[in-house]
Amino acid sequence: MLRYTVERLRNHIKRMHKKIILTGDRPTGPLHLGHYVGSLKQRVSLQHTHSQYIMIADVQALTDNFEHPDKIRANIIEVALDYCAVGIDPHVSTIFVQSYVPEIAELSVYFLNLVTVNRLMRNPTVKAEIEQKQFGPSVPVGFLVYPVHQAADIAIVKGEVVPVGADQLPMIEQYNEVVRAFNRIYNTQLFPEAEALVPAKAARLPGIDGKAKMSKSLGNAIYLSDSAEQVQQKVMKMYTDPQHVRVSDPGQVEGNIVFTYLDVFDPYPDEVAQLKEQYQKGGLGDVALKRRLIDVLNSFLEPIRARRATYAADRAAVYELLKEGTAKVCAVADETIHSVKEAMQINYW
Ligand code: TRP
Repeated sequence: MLRYTVERLRNHIKRMHKKIILTGDRPTGPLHLGHYVGSLKQRVSLQHTHSQYIMIADVQALTDNFEHPDKIRANIIEVALDYCAVGIDPHVSTIFVQSYVPEIAELSVYFLNLVTVNRLMRNPTVKAEIEQKQFGPSVPVGFLVYPVHQAADIAIVKGEVVPVGADQLPMIEQYNEVVRAFNRIYNTQLFPEAEALVPAKAARLPGIDGKAKMSKSLGNAIYLSDSAEQVQQKVMKMYTDPQHVRVSDPGQVEGNIVFTYLDVFDPYPDEVAQLKEQYQKGGLGDVALKRRLIDVLNSFLEPIRARRATYAADRAAVYELLKEGTAKVCAVADETIHSVKEAMQINYW
């Protein structure tokens, strides 16, 4: 009887426990439609079923922007505004700023002992970035170890689910290695392993130039904060089918970015299917097609712009929200560090 009650109670507690999400973005620029499709949309719905922490990763952004702290500073608020604009509710999700949680840096130092330089050099994401940034042999230590820092980001709130793009999978793998080592060496179960939540392949939005990824550095992004005119100009420049010269020419739908975007954003897929047919047969011009996409994107972005404007009208209040979120995380971080020190037996008094 007693055992039955305990069992039921345990199951009840399990059901009540909302899984902890930790995710974040580097504040190196405003967020774009690619971010929306790949992660922000998911966060808006996950915030109701999970306990969600969203981190503005300024310390990580500094690892390859340390000469430009002004850029990071300016983008903290832009990213926060983008979050609020898309419907991440700062009273439901906890939005915080990485550098204001010093326990993350502290935990990173303890984690650094558990990872070898070789292992970091083998991290495929780090490897690709080192090449891309042309560091050569002069890789800054801070950059090389950012995956360890990122492990501390997750561990500090004992994150269980980490929604990330596919390029971040090696980071989660590395996270699990670090916490497994920590738990084993210090004989504890303090840190649960984390599970990556990778959006479906379709959730990767190509840039307006047709390149595989929409990205700030490639200059091919439509930002959530772009005006209606900016959206219009960008769509007009969009990559379609270079063989489709005259309206009457038959056109390619595959790889035609305008259709890719319509597939994602147009609320009337039946009509899009008809347009595709017409385009393939010939008789539908790029300009007409682009006009539709401009309308679709602007109707989608309109409520986002409106919400952004409301928050942007009182920036001090947005900083206040960040401060509140950060204070909440600091309280959790303090507890975690306390347990870490206990497990490591470095709590001397
Ligand atoms: N590295 C991530 C990116 O570039 C941002 C990030 C920092 C992050 N810390 C994190 C993501 C912790 C998930 C969990 O997008």
